[in-house]
Amino acid sequence: MSPKKIRILIVDDIAETRENIRKLLQFESDVEVVGAARSGKEGIQLAQELDPDVVLMDINMPDIDGIAATDIIRKKTPYIQVVILSVQSDQNYMRKAMLAGARDFLTKPPLGDELISAIRRAGEMAQAERAKGAQQNTATTSTAGASNAAASYASASKGKIITIYSPKGGTGCTTISVNLAIALNNEDTRTVLVDASLQFGDVAIFVNEQGKNTILELAPRVDELEPDVVEEILINHTASGIRILAAPQRPEMAEKISTDQFIKAVQYLQKMYAYVVVDTSHILSDMILSIIDISDVVILVTTQEIPSIKSARLLLDLLQNMGIKKQRIIFTMNRYDKRIAITPERVSENLKHEISVTIPLDEKIAITAVNRGVPFMLDNKTQPVGRGISSLAEAIRARLITLESENEISGKR
Ligand SMILES: Nc1ncnc2c1ncn2[C@@H]1O[C@H](COP(=O)(O)OP(=O)(O)O)[C@@H](O)[C@H]1O
Ligand SMILES: [Mg+2]
Repeated sequence: MSPKKIRILIVDDIAETRENIRKLLQFESDVEVVGAARSGKEGIQLAQELDPDVVLMDINMPDIDGIAATDIIRKKTPYIQVVILSVQSDQNYMRKAMLAGARDFLTKPPLGDELISAIRRAGEMAQAERAKGAQQNTATTSTAGASNAAASYASASKGKIITIYSPKGGTGCTTISVNLAIALNNEDTRTVLVDASLQFGDVAIFVNEQGKNTILELAPRVDELEPDVVEEILINHTASGIRILAAPQRPEMAEKISTDQFIKAVQYLQKMYAYVVVDTSHILSDMILSIIDISDVVILVTTQEIPSIKSARLLLDLLQNMGIKKQRIIFTMNRYDKRIAITPERVSENLKHEISVTIPLDEKIAITAVNRGVPFMLDNKTQPVGRGISSLAEAIRARLITLESENEISGKR
């Protein structure tokens, strides 16, 4: 089945802008401009009549402005996705646009590539949402390969893969991964921490164990692994008891490891450990997508900053398009500062995905821990930041139980 064309409605009061956008899009075979409106009001009307997938929306317009028009269109027809194009790039506009339900925000004039990829993302989302609306009453059948992979996970003896990801750098993925692995590790649930940030992985530094074996030693042998060989390659972090599969020590070594090797290594560790915690880099590579795909639970990390929230929204859309069930994602806010007005509640509401866990900001503890190479779960676990990690571990355990019982039910059908 060839994918349907993405149908676009342009809303802008300036004729030249409408024409320029049309020209930018005319050679894209998967995109079709179905109409153009000169005001917010006309945009709302044409959105109803033409039923586009994506509306490209200006902000400053006579009668109804683009933000109000977005709000109205999204309320009337929730599957239509709006991409805002604005000369104002300030965060206040971006925030308002997001609250109105805009999917994306580009500054004018948009670059061709940037515009097309925003349209494709929004278009896929719209078509998926539309299809979902149409099938709402039929029984849920699994569509994407990813959910099949998840369903076959029901076998209880395998360990669980927990991947920590954020589309933005510096949100605290490594901090969370290291401390979470320590929180999850005990005699009954042995835990291994894997550094999937192959170029600039810093897990080993976080626990002051650099300069030892890395995945480079394991990758060439993935087809003939034995538990004792693996144990020898893993770092034994004696202070906490967790094992670590470290990233290569130099960035240029990263390319020696293929996605296939990496996935096989993780799946082998799954046979040996109850939990495989995977720390990732922020670039959404093929490898990271494959890891997310085989993960039982994905911890999506955001901060209270608008760019981080915006990226989280894009990622949630993408995961949905990949067929990753919403219950497999635990949306987490790190570096939470109650003095900042963007609360977890507001973000949850805005992104239609609940923030299940909040980890407070504590620079003193977090940074001292990294610099000493002693994770704070070892010496500060009763402090608020440590308690945040403990509640994340609890949320994961609870979620895994829910997912397992759901899988059992669907498996018996
Ligand atoms: N809850 C927190 N409070 C304060 N600082 C934090 C917190 N979590 C992480 N940090 C700090 O933020 C910086 C980035 O964290 P890091 O875990 O390396 O992020 P990432 O892996 O997402 O790039 C580090 O200096 C770390 O100490
Ligand atoms: Mg990191």
